[in-house]
Amino acid sequence: MKTIIEPFRVKSVEPIRFTTIGERTRIIREASYNPFLIRAEDVLIDLLTDSGTSAMSSAQWAAMMQGDESYAGSSSFFRFEASVKRITGMPQVIPTHQGRAAERILFSILGGKGKSVLSNTLFDTTRANIEWSGAEGLDLICEEGKDPALVAPFKGNISITALDERIRELGAPRIPVCILTVTNNSGGGQPVSMANIRQASSVCRSHGIPLFIDACRFAENAYFIKLREEGYQDRPMLEIVREMFSYADGCTMSAKKDAFANIGGFLALRDEALSLECRNLLIMTEGFPTYGGLAGRDLEAVAVGLGEALDEDYLKYRIRSIEYVGERLIAAGVPIVRPTGGHAVYLDAKAFLPGIPPDQYPGVALCSELYIRGGIRAVEIGSLMFGKYDSSGKLVSPPMELVRLAMPRRVYTQSHMDYVTETILETFDHRDTIRGFRIGHEEAVLRHFTARLIPVQELK
Ligand code: F0G
Repeated sequence: MKTIIEPFRVKSVEPIRFTTIGERTRIIREASYNPFLIRAEDVLIDLLTDSGTSAMSSAQWAAMMQGDESYAGSSSFFRFEASVKRITGMPQVIPTHQGRAAERILFSILGGKGKSVLSNTLFDTTRANIEWSGAEGLDLICEEGKDPALVAPFKGNISITALDERIRELGAPRIPVCILTVTNNSGGGQPVSMANIRQASSVCRSHGIPLFIDACRFAENAYFIKLREEGYQDRPMLEIVREMFSYADGCTMSAKKDAFANIGGFLALRDEALSLECRNLLIMTEGFPTYGGLAGRDLEAVAVGLGEALDEDYLKYRIRSIEYVGERLIAAGVPIVRPTGGHAVYLDAKAFLPGIPPDQYPGVALCSELYIRGGIRAVEIGSLMFGKYDSSGKLVSPPMELVRLAMPRRVYTQSHMDYVTETILETFDHRDTIRGFRIGHEEAVLRHFTARLIPVQELK
């Protein structure tokens, strides 16, 4: 088989800045070892997120010139709406400035004290919006999804048994919605199978509970279904995507991922009464329902991007480029979440740094080492992001300590990926020298964005 090449050529370039190890050691110290606090110009390869970091296509840039900036009824909105309907089949389309705005609106209405939202795994902003409303969020990931090293095709699946049990235990009236994150970002970018979406939908429907999809990476998920699930190999992408959404009552979407937009999102629903409530909240904080916090040109970029996400040559390259990094790491014995997911390579920091306990944040330690050695910016998805304190103040850690290297779409080439792999391998060779961290400062909500960390050896 020949190399699967980037399915584009480069029309415009953006220089990246090289720094020395000495400079990066100082920079990360000044950023209190929190990658979110490093300036982007000090990063060589930025794998902090695949969100809003895509390279737009010439078609998207061209469409932006057609942006209709009218306050009400802009033609850009109708193109946006048509594109969202084509993908989701949902009649009610509400634009928002990004995914979390859709989440805030939805959970302000459906959430509240005493309620429980069930999910395969909630993303951090989704969980935060649920908890902010007074409700609780419960992750019910399938057993395979809890073991990073296990190779299984759909590790993003929700446990249908757990879903059923929780509904019976809590009672349907306490559960306003169940939400499936596709692909499952916090659990390794792993896909959810069509069968699982169908089963979750049928369980929810039998109890009168609406099923929503957190659709940020719907196209990557659909491509995994095409590759791995019996009966989908010959189906066109649009059909697969439409089937996924057919089992849902609504979706939240961050268009900063699979729609290749630098900003944007939406809420799409079937229920008209709920959509009216959502639009009322939208007007208060986001904007009029035909722009929802976006410029007309942003709506255009999303409208075009949603279609591009279904291009199979693109998806093949996308999934392959991540698998390519994964293969080399696995061959060298580096512990990663297997198989590689849709948008990122996830290092298993617990297995990479077995000497660093969760309360010394092995993921943070690994991120800072990757930055110092290679100027690579990654993000911790572990005890810093999801840790909670019990009543005695002891840290309660999530099941996995991961470091995510998220690949911006259409931005980096194979040689960038080779460099990333080499840096990880070098870090792995020197893993015995890496030390843990303590928290110096933290906020009560979404602490990982602003936390300041201190290396443990400086505390002695
Ligand atoms: N849901 C999932 C699964 C996400 O990955 C994100 C964002 C959101 C919702 C919120 O969307 O950022 O547009 O408000 N994930 C980014 C990331 C930030 O880095 O994974 P948003």
